[in-house]
Amino acid sequence: MAITTCIFDAYGTLFDVAAAARQAAAEPEFQALQDKWPELANHWRLKQLQYTWLRAVADAHADFWDVTQDGLDWALEATGLQGDAKLRQRLLDLYWELQAYPEVPQMLATLKSGGLQTAILSNGSPPMLDGAVQSAGIGSVLDDVLSVESVGVFKPHARVYDLVQQRFGCAKDEVLFVSSNGWDAAGASGYGFVTAWVNRAGEPMDRLPWTPAHVLPDHRTIPQLAGL
Ligand code: LAC
Repeated sequence: MAITTCIFDAYGTLFDVAAAARQAAAEPEFQALQDKWPELANHWRLKQLQYTWLRAVADAHADFWDVTQDGLDWALEATGLQGDAKLRQRLLDLYWELQAYPEVPQMLATLKSGGLQTAILSNGSPPMLDGAVQSAGIGSVLDDVLSVESVGVFKPHARVYDLVQQRFGCAKDEVLFVSSNGWDAAGASGYGFVTAWVNRAGEPMDRLPWTPAHVLPDHRTIPQLAGL
């Protein structure tokens, strides 16, 4: 079936999650972060994601903002930066203003002008996603922003992917689902979407029962995959 609907993961896919630690490290006030920001960003992201999976399995859902703060607190302690309340607050503030990867606005604009439906489907809470969409200036090229908060469980639970059909009324194989999280692209493949894994870092393929249909270095060829 032809692709009618392009759905994007948010954090790490459209928005650069490492940007918060990278930007804070460049500010004179946070020199302690200069050498440590890549390690901090890595711990933060991995713990944030682990907590989503554990909470989904244990049926103990919490808002992604709480999980993001828990992940940060673990990462600050692991890197010896716990107790720096100003740094913690700065990193959290920056997480609400993440920039989109450079090719994202044009790619979304091409999809919209080509007649495709576009949306975000994210673990993020609606206020967090509003902040990121506004600061990246991509609201006008998205038809909707779908959050797991309406089903109360994190990805890769099928109830999350169900939100796409509920909103757009399309068949699974009309959906191109794009994520830079290999496990999310794999999970969406298992669900039945056509998937693209944006593998910027050249990571190995996740060892899961499903694999993404396409693996891309960035978003530039998404319109072609969508049939434009
Ligand atoms: C999201 C996380 C997985 O935006 O990046 O859903």
